Amino acid sequence: MVNIAMLGYGVVGSGVAELILRNKYKFKDELDEELVLSKILVKNMKRHMSNKNVGLLTDNIEDIFKAKVDIVVEAMGGLDPSYEYVKMALNMKKHVVTANKDLIAEYGYELLKLARKNGVTIHFEASVGGGIPILKSINECLVGNQIRSIKSILNGTTNFILSKMNHNGMSYESALKLAQKLGFAEANPESDVKGYDAARKLSILSTIAYNRRVSWKDINIEGIVKIDSEDFRYAKHKKCNIKLLGISKVCGDKIYASVMPVMVKEDSVLGRIEDEYNAILVEGDAVGDVMFSGKGAGMFPTASAVFGDIADIIEHKKEKSIIFSAEKANINKNLESKSNWFMRVKTCDRMKIIESISVNFKNCYILSNGFCGNKNEVAAFVSADNEDVLNDYIEKMKSDKYAQSVKKFLVLDK
Ligand code: HSE
Repeated sequence: MVNIAMLGYGVVGSGVAELILRNKYKFKDELDEELVLSKILVKNMKRHMSNKNVGLLTDNIEDIFKAKVDIVVEAMGGLDPSYEYVKMALNMKKHVVTANKDLIAEYGYELLKLARKNGVTIHFEASVGGGIPILKSINECLVGNQIRSIKSILNGTTNFILSKMNHNGMSYESALKLAQKLGFAEANPESDVKGYDAARKLSILSTIAYNRRVSWKDINIEGIVKIDSEDFRYAKHKKCNIKLLGISKVCGDKIYASVMPVMVKEDSVLGRIEDEYNAILVEGDAVGDVMFSGKGAGMFPTASAVFGDIADIIEHKKEKSIIFSAEKANINKNLESKSNWFMRVKTCDRMKIIESISVNFKNCYILSNGFCGNKNEVAAFVSADNEDVLNDYIEKMKSDKYAQSVKKFLVLDK
């Protein structure tokens, strides 16, 4: 008998409870083990009174450990009280499975160490890419590679919003409301739309991929809150979609990492990923490009990854567990390589800006005034030797007072 206790009974927790029930006898023949959901910790008992698992509910963490428990599934999200409860479970020598990216991005190193000290494991496949088996793939299947880069769509909510704005003409607000209703968004969706959720996932992914700790707080993060319908029109002009991409890559002894909206070709592997789907394009020195995609948010996709971790523990695959390096990565906030960009410059002197862009960028393509009908705007695609050059130019334009504001997007060809 394997006793599983669960902390939290929201979207993810309900999915996990259902999968445990469906797979109760999964390990019966091979290992003579039966799965039992022993207890479920909830914040508010009254909210779950009509639930079929009502007999298992408690609002007291002590009850979780009073019952016989082998594995603790943390499905509460956030840091408080998850962090304390997970430490408690590890110190009581219980294996832990969590879907909590905030927790792993913040305390992954410490918790993995604590688990090792106690002879147990903490698994967190569901923390990145929802149902996509990406962490295990990098840690096990691609272990013979030096990972060179990651380009990824890691937030289902924002990809859903961008898809609905682009293809269904939905407003940002209505698309966000729908994502919340469908259970994709965080309790506080700011962390989705401002890019923090994607940044935390990118930091976990990059830490494993490059074997150096990439802190999400060290990287450049820009969300989707400022994107409007005209951005999509401009993107379409270059046969591009707009995606919130988490990008990281090895640059000498540093790691470049960022989360920002990027124009990607509509027919590219990342450009075709729509709705709540996530995608991760990994480049390894031996394997080349490998693409992973699937549902990155929602009840059952996330529960699927949690259940995979439960199975690993039951099948004693402890030796495969992930380790975070003690070494911290040096982060490059800006792209050091030659890259293409799109700029929208709000100005009261179009001619001045057009002349300035033409002089400063050998490779530039300025859209005609009539394209979006904005009399006070210059829109241009430019090529820059590196991102610092572009940023310096933008700052200079602003300080010369010709440009009131500048919006920029990286443009990727594939
Ligand atoms: N809010 C997250 C997302 C949930 O939209 O991707 C899955 O981590």
